[in-house]
Amino acid sequence: MQLWHLARNPIESWANVHYEELIVAGPSMLGHFVVVSDPAAIRRVFVENSANYEKDPLQMRVLRSGAPEGSGEGLLSASGDAWKRTRRTLSPLFTPRRVGAFAQIMKIKSEARVEAWLKRRPGAIVEVDREMIRVTLDILSSTLFSDALDDDRPGFEREMMKLLDSIGRIDPLDVLNAPAWLPRLNRTRAKASRQWFAATSDRLIAQRTAEMARAPDRTPDDLLTALLRASDPETGVGLTQGEVAANLFTFIAAGHETTARALGWTLHLLSHAPEWQARVRDEALNAPDDPADWLDAMPATRAVFDEAMRLFPPVAHMSRMALEPDRLGDVAVPAKSVIIVAPWLLHRHKRLWKQPGAFMPERFMPGARETIDRFAYLPFGAGPRVCIGATFAMQEAVVALACIFRRVRLSPVRGVEPRPVLRITLRPEDRIPVHIHPV
Ligand code: HEM
Repeated sequence: MQLWHLARNPIESWANVHYEELIVAGPSMLGHFVVVSDPAAIRRVFVENSANYEKDPLQMRVLRSGAPEGSGEGLLSASGDAWKRTRRTLSPLFTPRRVGAFAQIMKIKSEARVEAWLKRRPGAIVEVDREMIRVTLDILSSTLFSDALDDDRPGFEREMMKLLDSIGRIDPLDVLNAPAWLPRLNRTRAKASRQWFAATSDRLIAQRTAEMARAPDRTPDDLLTALLRASDPETGVGLTQGEVAANLFTFIAAGHETTARALGWTLHLLSHAPEWQARVRDEALNAPDDPADWLDAMPATRAVFDEAMRLFPPVAHMSRMALEPDRLGDVAVPAKSVIIVAPWLLHRHKRLWKQPGAFMPERFMPGARETIDRFAYLPFGAGPRVCIGATFAMQEAVVALACIFRRVRLSPVRGVEPRPVLRITLRPEDRIPVHIHPV
C-alpha cells in the first residue's frame, strides 16, 4: 500500500489481486495487513470473534480529529465500556418507530428541493451531488435540532463543509504514527471550525435545556431533546453535556455526508437507467399516504438505492486491529495485524458478484436479495458496531427518491463520468451534473 495513494485516494491503492483473491495478507511498511473479502472470514471479524478485533487506532485518530474542541467522546470513536454504555443509551433513539416519526419532515424537505428545481427551464442542468448535500442537511438540521440554526444557515453549511473536508483526508503523519503534538496540516486548518461547532453546540444545548425546564410539554420532539433525555437502560445514567455535544456532532458527521453521497451516486446511476427511473416513479405514484410506510412499500426504489451503495459504498473502507493472534480461514493473523474490510472491493469482487461493474438493481429485488450472503454486502457494516442510523438513512433515501421521481425525469450530461475519491466517504472528484425534465 503506497502512502501517497493512501493520503490522496485510498481506493486507487487496490491491485487486481484484491479483486480476485478472497484474503490477501502480508507485511507492509505500515505493519502486517490482512485484506479480507471472504464473507465467512468477515463474519468472524465482525461477529463471531469481534471482541478480538478493535477499531484500529489510525481510524480512531482520524475520526476524533474532527470532534468539537473540548467535547466528550461520540459513539463513532468511543471504545470499550464507554462505547457499550453510549450504544445502549442511544439505541432507543433509532428504533423503526422513532425513525418513522421523522418521515414527514424528510418528505417536506425533499419536496421543497424538487420544487426549487421545477422553477428552472425543462432540461436545465442540476448538480445533484450538491443538491443531495443540501437536502440531507435540511433533513438533519430539522430532525436533529428543529432548524434552530437557521438564523446562521450559511455559516453552519460553510463550517461543516470545511470540517468534513479536513477530517476526510488521512494525514500521512497519522499513518506513520507520528506523535500527537506534531501539527497536522488538515487539523490546523480545521481548528476554527471545531471551535465554531463547540460554541454552537453549547449554545443549542443551553437553549434547549432552558426550554425543557420552562415548558416540558412543548419541547420539540427532535434528536437533541432525545439526547438530553436519554439514559442508559441498565444504570439510568444520562449523557454528560460534553457527550450530548459529541453525539450531536457525530450524527452530523456520520449521517449527513454518507447519505448525501449515496443519493448523489444513485441519481447519477439512474440518469443512465430510464427503465429503473420509471419503476421508481411507478412506486412513488402508488405509495401509501403515510411516508413512514414507504420504505416497506417500495421494493424497487430500495433495490436501486442498495445497488447504488454496492457500486459506490459511502463508507468504502473499514479497519480493525487484531488484539490476539487468530486464524481467518487458512490464513494466520498475528497479533497487531490491521484487518481491512473494504466494501469498495467486497462489492466489486469478481468471485462474489456476476458482472460486478454493472448497475443491476434486480439483484436486490425480493427473491434475489435473499441469495446474497449477509457478509458480502456491507454498506452499513455488521456486528456490534453496525451503523446505528441505517434505518434512518434507508428511509430518508427512499422518501427523497420517491419525491424526486414523482416530479422529474433525469438524463445524463454527455461526456460526464464522475470519478470516485475516498475521503472517509466516497465522493465524486468533481460535480455530478444531470439534466432535469418535469414529468
Ligand atoms: C447511507 C448512509 C450511511 C452509511 C453508508 C453508513 C455507514 C456506516 C458504517 C459502514 C458504519 C460502521 C463503521 C465500522 O464498523 O467501522 C457506521 C457506523 C455509524 N453510523 Fe452510519 N452510515 C450511514 C448513515 C448514518 C446516519 C444517518 C447516522 C445517524 C444519524 C449514522 C450514524 C452512525 C454512527 C453513530 C456509527 C457508529 C456506531 C458504533 O460504532 O456503535 N450513520 N455507519
